[in-house]
Amino acid sequence: MNMRFEPPARGLSGELRAPPDKSISHRAALLGAMASEPVRIERYLHAADTDSTLAAVAALGSLVELRGEDEVVVRGTGLREARQPAQPIDVGNAGTLMRLLPGWLAAQEGSEFTLDGDESIRRRPVDRIAEPLRLMGAELSAHEDRFPPLHVRGAHLRAISYDLPVASAQIKSCVLLAALAADGATTVSEPSRSRDHTERMLLRAGVGIHRNGRRVTVVNADELLLDAVRVPGDPSSAAFLVAAGVLVPSSRLLIADVGVNWTRTGFLRIVRRMQGIVLGDLEEETGELSPREPVSDLDVAHGVLEGTVVEPDEVPLAIDELPLVALLGCFAEGETVVRGAQELRVKESDRIASVVEGLRGLGAEIEATDDGFVVSGRGGLRGGTIDALGDHRLAMLGAVAGLASREGVEVIGMEAANVSYPAFVDDLAALCS
Ligand code: S3P
Repeated sequence: MNMRFEPPARGLSGELRAPPDKSISHRAALLGAMASEPVRIERYLHAADTDSTLAAVAALGSLVELRGEDEVVVRGTGLREARQPAQPIDVGNAGTLMRLLPGWLAAQEGSEFTLDGDESIRRRPVDRIAEPLRLMGAELSAHEDRFPPLHVRGAHLRAISYDLPVASAQIKSCVLLAALAADGATTVSEPSRSRDHTERMLLRAGVGIHRNGRRVTVVNADELLLDAVRVPGDPSSAAFLVAAGVLVPSSRLLIADVGVNWTRTGFLRIVRRMQGIVLGDLEEETGELSPREPVSDLDVAHGVLEGTVVEPDEVPLAIDELPLVALLGCFAEGETVVRGAQELRVKESDRIASVVEGLRGLGAEIEATDDGFVVSGRGGLRGGTIDALGDHRLAMLGAVAGLASREGVEVIGMEAANVSYPAFVDDLAALCS
């Protein structure tokens, strides 16, 4: 589906609630499936990715009850009792499901599982999770030893101490989930901090888990007991609204109920550094692990931006929002540089190449580097056509670029937004009316 986005006559204005968090929805469904008692999830995200997770846990023996618009109850099978399904598990487009679920499945002694997904998933590496799970004792095989479909044969797992080769919350979470049923205590060290929703939820589920700087240790558990989970608004989805508010002249909007866990608010800090106006109480970096997922309302207004440099340590805290940093850079004074973001190359598209080519097609001066990009700000963007390439964040980037551009933008494949934010187009329209 192609869609055109034109600069609105007036700026964006109004108040809305950010859609529920995708990362936390995935984790709530998975931990629900692993728990001993039913888990009630309030504000579960109903989007293609997270619906794939509900279908996956149902295929593995959980009962999934949908209540009303966005409440879900998962009656799980317990930590060691996943049912072996007759068919491969279809993760669709969901990289998080593809990387987290094998952690649990690896601990199902004597059972075998196959995980597969769409075209895009089949281009995304899974060797990064196969390696630690093999060290723990599970057997895994993959296409060319690197890509889905992924086969997992569960085993009695042993605890490991593992240094993550990249700062990835997905790999970290996979190992932490496997560790729950392993013998002993497992430690994972990250090269730099990444989102910690899994750790916070495990702490709430009564698991012995603690953090020491970049190291997190989890002790094996007999069972998980999780009370109700309330999913906060997704800061990564809200980021598209924030960018629109900052870029489109005369805008002023209020985004309610946004998750502000500090491991997710890198983008908001970058926007503030670029002199963008985003008011709200962001969580400060925490030493100790917290079981809470803090939320805040964000008050956003249009403003003049300055270029900035995003260094490697900041990258995992803003990983999904870096395409928006490139867009903001087009409107800023001076240069905007992102370094140390080679992980962008293995997202739903190669997001260094797709963002650079996509924005260039709209008139941007932007160069790709091996591990990021350099944008020369020109105070605006002409507009044109952008192909979403099946990548939800590229589709939403194109839409925001259209509102902020001089001539409007046609997005090819706007339906890709359904993966994480099905109401995105309606929400933008409401803010523009
Ligand atoms: C996610 C972690 C990130 C992010 C993805 C969701 C998660 O991936 O890009 O959209 O929910 O853990 P990596 O951990 O591979 O960086």
